[in-house]
Formats: sequence, C-alpha cells, structure tokens
Amino acid sequence: MRIDVFTLFPHSFDWFAEQRHVRNAAAAGLELVALDLRETTPLRAGQVDDTPYGGGAGMVLRVDVVEAALRERYGDDAARVRDTRRVIALAAGGRPFDDALASELAASLLDGRDMTLLCGRYEGFDERVHEQLASDVVSIGRYVLSGGELAAMVVCDAVVRKLPGALGHEESVVEESFSDALGGAPEYPHYTRPVEWRGHRVPEVLLSGNHAEIAAWRRARSAERGTLGPA
Ligand code: 6GU
Repeated sequence: MRIDVFTLFPHSFDWFAEQRHVRNAAAAGLELVALDLRETTPLRAGQVDDTPYGGGAGMVLRVDVVEAALRERYGDDAARVRDTRRVIALAAGGRPFDDALASELAASLLDGRDMTLLCGRYEGFDERVHEQLASDVVSIGRYVLSGGELAAMVVCDAVVRKLPGALGHEESVVEESFSDALGGAPEYPHYTRPVEWRGHRVPEVLLSGNHAEIAAWRRARSAERGTLGPA
C-alpha cells in the first residue's frame, strides 16, 4: 500500500510520518512518501504557479507542473494515472471529507488501489488539475487553510487509522460513526496558463477582460457548485 503526497513543503510531513499509528501502519506495509512539486517543474527557476486568468488576487498552481510531477513519478500519461490510483486534489471547494469517504479510501488501499494526494497553495490549482488529472477533489471543511498540507494530513490520518494494525488492540474503529457532512464551500473554477492544454481551453469569458461578465460567470459557476453537495 502506498500513499504519495505531492507538495511544495515535503518536510511538513516529517512530523506526521513519525506518529505512532502511521509508524504502525508502515510496519504493516504502508509506504508514505512526500514529493516536492518544485523538483520536477518544467518551468525555469523552480516556478510552479502563475497569475489567474481573468484577474484577481493570489496565484494558481499550474496544471503542467502537476502533470510533470505525476509523469516523473509514475512514468505514464499523467491523465491516466487516475485510472489505476486514487488521485486526490485537496481543495477547499471539493467534496466534503467525512467518515464514509475515509472508509472508502481505506477500502481502496486494501483493495490494491494506491493513493496520491495533491496539495495546493495560494489560490489552489488550475481547474484542469481537478477535471483532468484528479479522480477526486476533497475538502476537509467549510473554512480556508493556507495550503493543502494540513488537509492531506487530516485525510491520511483518518484513512490510515482504519487500516488493520494501525491502532492498538484496545482501540476500535468499528464503532465510530459520523453524521453526514455539509456540502462543500462554493468556489468558482480557477484557470491559468497554458490557455490550451490537451485541447482543454480556458473559458473564453476569462480572457475577455470584461470584468462584469467574469464576475457574473464566476457567480454562476459558484451557485452551480453550491447545489452539488448533500442537502
Ligand atoms: Cl483541502 N485546502 C485548503 N487550502 N483549505 C481547506 C481545505 C483544503 N479543506 C478545508 N479548508
């Protein structure tokens, strides 16, 4: 069983990897590896992010940077990695993480489908990472963290403790239960360069320079997403 975490801060996982239940799971066959997105960036000077099309604050993690990282690690078409692994992008606007999803991910690991976690920073990922590279986009709650690292640790923690051997015999995960999570925070999709990637183009409205239209488009995408989660 493998969990690969792609991040700009691989050392932030050092503490987590030392935790007892994680070491127990490692002794039982789990391999947890943190990989640095900057080490495989195809851009100069370690660049990984870019300014958002359509304007606005913050920076967006580029899709070609994530693509290069996946290709380097898995030696495969990056868009097909999700055919054989669970590729989870951590993002505040994603599917609410709950106990049911933790159980599902633990079951897929035990079933031989390894897990990849993608940690964003800044304003998050170019939307095409979510749409074309990830199998899942997951959020840990209705609030904004500075990056995906803590969320990845939350997801890992909740999943790993469900693996056999992770917890001592005195503890049991069987009787734990949680009510349904709330729907994810509505957030509109972000895009940055390249304007066309594998035939997937940035929506034309974001290139128009028409700020009123961009704002309306974003409100509409946001509203759509607000209706996708559980009631
Ligand atoms: Cl997965 N990432 C960020 N940046 N903020 C969050 C989150 C994830 N889940 C809740 N807030």
